[in-house]
Amino acid sequence: MITGVTGQDGSFLSEFLLEKGYEVHGLIRRSSTDYRARIAHLENNEHFHLHYGDLGDSMSLMSVIGQIRPDEIYNLAAQSHVQVSFNVPEYTADVVATGVLRVLEAVRLCGLADTCRIYQASTSELYGKVEEVPQSENTPFHPFSPYAVAKQYGYWIVKEYREAYGMYCCSGILFNHESERRGETFVTRKITLAASRIKQGKQDKLVLGNLSALRDWGYARDYVECMWLMLQQDKPEDFVIATGEQHSVREFCKLAFQYIGIDLTFEGTGEEEKGIDKATGKVLIEVSPEFYRPTDVVNLWGDPSRAKEALGWNPTKTSFEELVRIMVEHDMEQVAKERAEEYIDLQKIESLEKGVIR
Ligand code: NAP
Ligand code: GDD
Repeated sequence: MITGVTGQDGSFLSEFLLEKGYEVHGLIRRSSTDYRARIAHLENNEHFHLHYGDLGDSMSLMSVIGQIRPDEIYNLAAQSHVQVSFNVPEYTADVVATGVLRVLEAVRLCGLADTCRIYQASTSELYGKVEEVPQSENTPFHPFSPYAVAKQYGYWIVKEYREAYGMYCCSGILFNHESERRGETFVTRKITLAASRIKQGKQDKLVLGNLSALRDWGYARDYVECMWLMLQQDKPEDFVIATGEQHSVREFCKLAFQYIGIDLTFEGTGEEEKGIDKATGKVLIEVSPEFYRPTDVVNLWGDPSRAKEALGWNPTKTSFEELVRIMVEHDMEQVAKERAEEYIDLQKIESLEKGVIR
């Protein structure tokens, strides 16, 4: 069973498990519009099943878990946007923190504590205002947003159920992983979509926040394998999953624009910094403090040694360069196909991210 099946990771994990011969049950939440684009291609598969349920509602979780009686649960559902968590901190805490407890308790109350293994989608955001670089399983946590604080509760409650009830449950401390299916308000996808639109004359410029933030970016398709591997071990253990390589938002921009044939140079500092097309002198990237966060995590860099050793996982299957290329190629095609009425209103997307309705 996968919660968050309609999300980036949920869709890749569903494909991965179906290829392994699993019956996959996905939890989707009720809404007046159905947004299932990422799993549309799986919906005719007879081994793929969908159930309504919500992480904010214990009864729906009990009902679905009691009915399916899963062998493995991948708890991926979350309000996963860090910036948004500053605008809806209470809702974020309910889904991201208490939601984990609801899943664990539903498993226990359904009598599955001894048979059902649980993977919890934990995060490098736990390291937040980092206390050492790079970060490993032994690095102290210092969460730095309402989202991260909520995820820290999820991490500890999983550990508690493991120790108190002997349940096989564990947390994957995953560093940022991106893909052509990444939500459009996360910085990488915002950049690859904007670069594609600028190239095709559908957008003038890209406005970003902190260009100096550093991330350890991997490819989501590679990372879902680790979630599965973590549930196939003799004993449950928490792992850092990362590439071990670090890049800035600025470097990501440079590379994405390079793939569409634009050589960018950056001039100025802070809010005055600009990304300029060397060939034409045109300003293509600007900085706005509207995209700054009240507290920003600026130095994430994971040490995947333990996962390499114990899980036999290759953290650099897809390189950073390849990841950016995959995303740009996908978005160049997507943008080319967009008809006027389908065209995603950038203003709307940006205001969603800032929590402002224009
Ligand atoms: P995502 O694309 O934002 O997907 C989140 C999923 O959670 C969506 O399917 C969403 O459903 C669902 N969801 C949200 N609220 C829900 C609720 N109340 N009840 C049931 N489902 C709900 O996130 P992702 O990038 O795939 O990440 C998956 C998980 O890993 C998340 O927990 C995230 O916090 C964590 N994580 C992600 C990264 C990363 O870099 N991607 C790194 C570390 C940890 P709708 O489609 O209906 O919105
Ligand atoms: N979203 C966004 N938009 N971020 C920007 C922008 C912008 O315009 N400009 C600069 N950034 C910076 C942010 O300040 C942050 O430091 C960095 O880019 C990455 O932001 P996001 O792509 O929004 O991701 P995140 O790192 O905050 O969170 C993602 O990764 C976490 C794992 O570390 C999410 O997927 C979380 O769910 C996940 O836990």
